[in-house]
Amino acid sequence: MRTDYEDRIQKLIDQMTLEEKAGQLRQCGPSLVGAFGVSFEELVNMMFDGKISQEEFDRQMGSARQDFREEELRNGCIGSYNGIADAATANRLQKIAIEETRMGIPLLFGCDVIHGLRTVMPIPLAESCAWDPKLWEKTARVAAREATAAGIHMTFSPMVDVAKDARWGRVSEGAGEDVLLNSCYGAAKVRGYQSDDLAKEDSMAACVKHFAGYGAAEAGRDYNRVDMSMQRFFEEYLPPYEACIKAGARAVMPAFNDINGVPCSVNRWLLRDILREKWGFDGMTVSDSNAIAECVSHGVAKDQADAAKRAILAGMDMDMASDSYHQYLVELVKTGEVAEEKLDQAVANVLRIKFELGLFDHPYQASQDREREELLKPEYRRLAREAAASSMVLLKNDRILPLQKDAKIGIVGALADDRAQMLGTWAFEGKGEDCVSIVDACRARGVSFTYIKGQDAAVDIESINKMAESCSVIVAAVGEKKEESGEAASRASITIPKEQTEVLKALKKTGKPVVAVLFNGRPLAIPWIAEHVDAVLEAWHPGVEAGNAVLDLLFGAVNPSGKLTVTFPYTSGQCPMYYAHIPTGRPGGKSKFTSKYLDTPLEPVYPFGYGLSYTTYEYSGLKIQQSEQGVSVSVKVKNTGKRDGAEIVQCYIRDMAAERARPVRQLAAFEKVFLKAGEEVETRFFIPYENLGYYNSRMDYIVETGWFEAAAGRNCADCLSSLFEYTGQ
Ligand code: NOJ
Repeated sequence: MRTDYEDRIQKLIDQMTLEEKAGQLRQCGPSLVGAFGVSFEELVNMMFDGKISQEEFDRQMGSARQDFREEELRNGCIGSYNGIADAATANRLQKIAIEETRMGIPLLFGCDVIHGLRTVMPIPLAESCAWDPKLWEKTARVAAREATAAGIHMTFSPMVDVAKDARWGRVSEGAGEDVLLNSCYGAAKVRGYQSDDLAKEDSMAACVKHFAGYGAAEAGRDYNRVDMSMQRFFEEYLPPYEACIKAGARAVMPAFNDINGVPCSVNRWLLRDILREKWGFDGMTVSDSNAIAECVSHGVAKDQADAAKRAILAGMDMDMASDSYHQYLVELVKTGEVAEEKLDQAVANVLRIKFELGLFDHPYQASQDREREELLKPEYRRLAREAAASSMVLLKNDRILPLQKDAKIGIVGALADDRAQMLGTWAFEGKGEDCVSIVDACRARGVSFTYIKGQDAAVDIESINKMAESCSVIVAAVGEKKEESGEAASRASITIPKEQTEVLKALKKTGKPVVAVLFNGRPLAIPWIAEHVDAVLEAWHPGVEAGNAVLDLLFGAVNPSGKLTVTFPYTSGQCPMYYAHIPTGRPGGKSKFTSKYLDTPLEPVYPFGYGLSYTTYEYSGLKIQQSEQGVSVSVKVKNTGKRDGAEIVQCYIRDMAAERARPVRQLAAFEKVFLKAGEEVETRFFIPYENLGYYNSRMDYIVETGWFEAAAGRNCADCLSSLFEYTGQ
């Protein structure tokens, strides 16, 4: 139940000066004062411009002092901080806000808690492969417990940007290429972060991002333009944000990109018409970092003051990092360019979330005691291990896995013993020392192994051959470093480094079976591995329990159940590649004049929804029953192997003929079912007719009568299917 704070909000606004109002809309990060005596921003620029090296930059950062602009805080010019994750600092600053500012309004602390604070869970893309909303919610709950103990009130998560282009580095931060999965994932995260009452000391507000369509950045290049039809935008990109709002998310971060030429930060249609009017959102919007000022570079604002004016008028409440509001809002109101009422609306949205979080009554929710108690609890680590094991996807297994208990393993690859790399992108509070690498886990369990790092360096054939003599199986850790995915980490070529392939080739030559364990933050183009390596386990960047989870799967203590939420192409040139595409007039076939490539297969290496297990499942008895409200699709799934397991059963729909062409397959529902060896269950999905619709050329959402295909199966390319007719309700 949401309490109505509107009277209290209005009373506060009535007493505030223009400066104090602008202050509430300003979010600052601690600025770093370095030995060079330049600001953090200048230091970053110096590195980007090549004036100082990365090492020098890191050295400067290490010796830099944090400046929290306390004088400005005292003057009521700061309403929120970003990036503070320690209770002592948060409480010290909060005390200044409460006791030393004229209005005594509490601060709001925001932070990027993307996949856990200290107990770093698998990256979001990995976790999405568990297809398990309950798990997604549980890991978010743990993140909220830890983060709130460390003084954080709001996380800039979930990211629900549907991402169909594997070149985009931020594909790692969301739930992959599917609109339904992103919606379910986002809603579960919101529930987990916020719980049932935002005012509880361990609840944290969810800030949904990046609104909207950021995942469609052209050519997969970060921050790039997004240009698409409104129909596509509404069908394939907007629903996950709406699902998060429906789940109660109290904050939204507009995206860096433009939509059809208008940057989201100043996009009134997006921020007012869609978000507030259409979806009824009454929470707070906060810009992405420096995004308001960047509207000058976008070419839509003549200067920063103009950018500030456009942003506030469009409905951007809080300015993260650019100081455009701080510098220009008061003047813009005084000159009448911005009506004070617009400013007041934004302030009200900021105050509302502070009330909802209970900050006016309990401004000091964090404490060092809570920090000590909450961070990295054993039960959180257990959950991290479960999450990591459920996230991993067995891509190939030529009867090598699970390994025998007494297997003698030759382990190869730097990633097998690089703890910090296991954290993945966006894990600032995560510590390498908290992580368990594959080598650590082998040591702890008394597994018989030899380890050679052997990659990133010339292939040392001699030591590989020597190692092979004494082992029964080789485990090679390959993939990407954590810095190679995430923000500003787009790649034009999504392969693994040449050296790693060379090592794998040398390993294969030894004649010993080779298992590749992939650590990466995006789909990789790995056709050689798929063809030649005996077994492939996609481990992603699995978080603090990486090594334990990998061994759980390799030795079969856990039966793999993860399935891909992104398509794995043969080559980067196929990107964007995704399963829910529209058919062409000339679907790929044998004839030359069909839609395909001359030099690459048309199909992916691994399709969406794909993943193996140590048992086998048989699908049969697809049944379709129609009622007045919708169609129910049921299918029998039998565990035909010798091990218990979990199977992710997927249901897809296709509209066979419509005014606007519809995707060849569209995920309509899914369920993870647990089956004992030999057990059979019937899984039933109910799809309301209203879900079968789409936006026609006039942008009306319509459900057309006619023939549809319903399919159910183990992945998007392997389903039982049948037609049914919708004749109207
Ligand atoms: C930039 C990123 O785009 C966004 O996701 C993040 O929340 C902010 N910076 C704050 O760190």
